[in-house]
Amino acid sequence: MKYDVKNLTLEEKMKLLTGKNSWELETANGKLPSVFLSDGPHGLRMWDAEKRETKKATAMPNIVVVANSWDRELAYLDGATIADDCIEKGADVLLAPGVNIKRTPLCGRNFEYFSEDPYLAGTLAKAYIEGVQSKGVGTSLKHYCANNREYDRFYQSSEIDERTLREIYLPAFEIALTAQPWTVMCSYNPINGVWASENKWLLTDILRNEFAFDGVIVSDWGAVHNSWKAVKAGLDLEMPYRDKAYEEIKDGYEKGYLTEEEIDARVQKILELMEKVENDKKVVATTKEERHENAVKVAHGGIVLLKNEDNLLPLKGGNILLNGTLEYMGGGGSAFVQTDYKPRSLKEELASALGERARVSVSNFGMNSELSLYGARNAYQDAYEKDAVILCVGNNAHIESESHDRAGIRLSCTQEDLILNTAKVNKNVIVVIFAGSAIDVSPWVDKVKTVLFAGFSGEGTLQAVADIIAGKVNPSGKLSETFPLCLSDTPTGDTRGDGFVDCYQEGVFVGYRWYDKYEKAVAFPFGHGLSYASFEYSDLEICKKSETDYEVSYTVTNTSRVDGKEVSQVYVRDVFAMVTRPNKELKGFEKTFIKAGESKRVTITLNARSFAYYSIPLKKWYVENGDFEILVGASSRDIRLTGKLKIELPENEQVTH
Ligand code: GLC
Repeated sequence: MKYDVKNLTLEEKMKLLTGKNSWELETANGKLPSVFLSDGPHGLRMWDAEKRETKKATAMPNIVVVANSWDRELAYLDGATIADDCIEKGADVLLAPGVNIKRTPLCGRNFEYFSEDPYLAGTLAKAYIEGVQSKGVGTSLKHYCANNREYDRFYQSSEIDERTLREIYLPAFEIALTAQPWTVMCSYNPINGVWASENKWLLTDILRNEFAFDGVIVSDWGAVHNSWKAVKAGLDLEMPYRDKAYEEIKDGYEKGYLTEEEIDARVQKILELMEKVENDKKVVATTKEERHENAVKVAHGGIVLLKNEDNLLPLKGGNILLNGTLEYMGGGGSAFVQTDYKPRSLKEELASALGERARVSVSNFGMNSELSLYGARNAYQDAYEKDAVILCVGNNAHIESESHDRAGIRLSCTQEDLILNTAKVNKNVIVVIFAGSAIDVSPWVDKVKTVLFAGFSGEGTLQAVADIIAGKVNPSGKLSETFPLCLSDTPTGDTRGDGFVDCYQEGVFVGYRWYDKYEKAVAFPFGHGLSYASFEYSDLEICKKSETDYEVSYTVTNTSRVDGKEVSQVYVRDVFAMVTRPNKELKGFEKTFIKAGESKRVTITLNARSFAYYSIPLKKWYVENGDFEILVGASSRDIRLTGKLKIELPENEQVTH
């Protein structure tokens, strides 16, 4: 090690455990290098102290779009692209990705998170981290843990039973940790009554000892309530600088609550981080233009075609009207990126993508104006005369943002009226939704032919949407979060906890696990997404490698005349479980490019964890003997192939029932 804890005074070591300011680590009076931490998951958000403004960077798609791509390579590219901006502008650790589970569509930061399913969230976060760190820039896997609402996020305790924690709220971290993120960020909230920043069971017993995390555990900004207690629990670094932090640590040490060995152990992690920052290669590989192209590419892969009656898309041509509101860059708060990219209008992008075959006009009441009554009549007259109408609707950075949750999950009345009234006068309506989380589409979805979920896709949004509408790109995204029929159908309904405790009484039944268990219809299921191609599944084979290791193989055929990518999903069902288990759980997926008329063989491997549940009596992951079903689907509710297997472990590996 280049930096040795022995060369530091006790005071220097104590001061090292708290940031120097909002974004930098202490340097022990210049003995150590400066390390700069900076947001965020959708691109670099870095404060320029000289110019007193946020530095400009490429605004990549929000994580919701990366997740909807179901594409490990695209997640990697997304991370690597952001890392180039970090290198160029001097950020050493990127404070991303967030993997908190989408327990409720109301959560204000769902645009920043991956999924309602921990396997999907962890798998894509792993690829994202690998992408960022491949460039020698660190990451911060966050917010550990159970930070699933913005409402009262600093104080409201997440009350969760251990099996639910283990099966739903920890696995995304567990999977992403295999990418060895340089840091993990603890959340603000208490978990079962103990602050995350002081939660020894979570920080040391589980994260460090059980999950073998060997990087730096950093607090969320302002999440520490008592510094010596945080250090004792295993927190390495409190951010940002807080004037009482050093005194609290010194006080804890002098009172014998904290030993120098415990302080040294935390300091050691910080010194190791500094060495990573210094040692790992940092080479910018992309120009700003290439980063923009990557932003468009990620958007292409993560936009979801939810509905497409009569194959209205890709648009053939004719007179096309554009209307609605256009807010698409991303959700608000610490993840919002300031880009200086000047996008062309959607009209220009569509005209360019559609070429001579179409004439695109914008409703005479503009794309961002609220329609006046008089305006509405003109707009509908306008729509009546067109071959098709594209309506842009959704949320914006004020509705979906850090620090508050959404009040509901429907579109605004103005937007719903625009859709319903336009559909009265034109049968070819295409609705493009720009949002970071599930929208209740039930009031209008049956009235329109086509719905495209563009998410918040960053600076490349309009180009990507136009390419898909015109058929230059075949959509391949699939939902990483269920679109319910209404808020009251969701596991938490319209609740926000009681201001003291948020009780996770739905247990493991989150997202599709919930809608399956209570056999609830949904607007669009987890894993759903259409293509301009069509795919058939066949020839399922389940090859046994051991009692709990299997290879699941099947063939996907593109039965259309257009090339496309298909996300096939593998779910596991424990048919006669001795505990309540979800109807099915995602345990594998693959995104496969298949040329028109061709077939590809896909193989997914399953291991013991694919079948196990967390046993409270045994305090471990446990595979029970019995019948399991393997479900291969195009979505969680579009199962195309089903296979069966029986697990028969030796009796001494089974508990007595
Ligand atoms: C915020 C966020 C966290 C962010 C940090 C620094 O409160 O919770 O995600 O990285 O502070 O801005």
